[in-house]
Amino acid sequence: MALFDDEYAANPHPALAELRQAGPVHRVTSAAGIPFWMVTRWDEARQVLTDPSLSKRQPVDQLPAELRAALATQMLLRDPPDHTRLRRLVSAAFTPRRTQALRPRIEQITDRLLDELATVSEPDLIDRFAVPLPLEVICELLGIPGGERRPFHAWSNVIIGGSGGPADMVAAMSAIVAYFRDLLARKRAQPSDDLLGALLAVVDDGDRLSDDEVVGMALLLLVAGHETTANLIGNAVHLICRQPDQRERVLKDPGLLPAVVEEVLRMASPSATSTYRVTTRPITLGATTIPAGEQVLISLLAVNRDPRRFTDPETFDPARGDGGHLAFGHGIHFCLGAPLARVEAQIALTRLFGRHPEIQLAVRPEELRWRTGLLMHGLEALPVRLRTETS
Ligand code: HEM
Repeated sequence: MALFDDEYAANPHPALAELRQAGPVHRVTSAAGIPFWMVTRWDEARQVLTDPSLSKRQPVDQLPAELRAALATQMLLRDPPDHTRLRRLVSAAFTPRRTQALRPRIEQITDRLLDELATVSEPDLIDRFAVPLPLEVICELLGIPGGERRPFHAWSNVIIGGSGGPADMVAAMSAIVAYFRDLLARKRAQPSDDLLGALLAVVDDGDRLSDDEVVGMALLLLVAGHETTANLIGNAVHLICRQPDQRERVLKDPGLLPAVVEEVLRMASPSATSTYRVTTRPITLGATTIPAGEQVLISLLAVNRDPRRFTDPETFDPARGDGGHLAFGHGIHFCLGAPLARVEAQIALTRLFGRHPEIQLAVRPEELRWRTGLLMHGLEALPVRLRTETS
């Protein structure tokens, strides 16, 4: 099964439905020729996500030393008790209240990007809106001064845009780590009330984060919260524009947008898969036993359309009011940024459709280019027309 070609990227669902129908877990080979197991059913996904015998630890020794320290301390790549400790400290600083307090800034950033968008005749909504918005928001959250954000856009083009190879990616991440180290020294000298300042200050039962851990956390937030949220915004605009009845409903009642965002998360999950886990003992899923020492991925796209869990799963129905999708994962590694991602997407869509109710795709759906690769599900570009032409 070709899970990596352009056809799969544009519409992965037929291939995933076939796999899901055939069984809950499958042995697949990555584009780089590395074998792993992919889970395609909802029940088994929850089983894997809550099984402590699957480890998140991944080898980092092939990375350059300056990156190794920052990555080795990231909680997404740790198991309990390290993960428990890091998550507790970080949660004390990255609170729901901090996310709510960011709302007015997210609205301002959104409006500025929309002002710029309106000056272009057929703008690419991904490049000009969906990608820069979450990047600016994370910079704002972390407390990166406005004048120092420009390089982040260039680094993000390399990390997300794929402009360059793996060596450029490592170089971009190393540059970000070096920048964070420098910024941290400045924040230590002059305490601030942004998230980096809070991460430096947080103390829990006498315990605190080391500099490497704060840098690792900042990098994780940047990488985990950027492309995912960009994909969510792009996938939402795409789905809404392709369904005139949904657009009418949203325009009449923007209060429906939170439910629409949940349904987009389910039907077009921006993180196409979980991150890798490795079995530390044999585990049995359905009729299959995966040996110890094997890599496992959960196809969130597949499990979120599992007919065993969702009634009529191929229908876009924001009214289903069912919080059961696994787009943000499940269990101890459940997405820390889910509240922020939801707020961002809701603001982005409310402002975009409020200002440009006639917005439509500027190309035929089959001409759209999707990002390839297994881990993400999102558009490479989304050319739109902001108003209907009148001749
Ligand atoms: C973890 C998805 C936005 C920070 C995760 C996981 C998923 C996910 C599926 C779990 C991975 C696994 O178990 O293998 C998403 C999606 C997003 C989004 C779909 C947007 C629509 C964000 C944002 C932030 C963020 C905005 C922060 C600014 C994190 C962190 C973790 C995580 C720190 C690791 C949690 C841990 O290991 O305990 N995310 N994410 N994410 N996400 Fe998100």
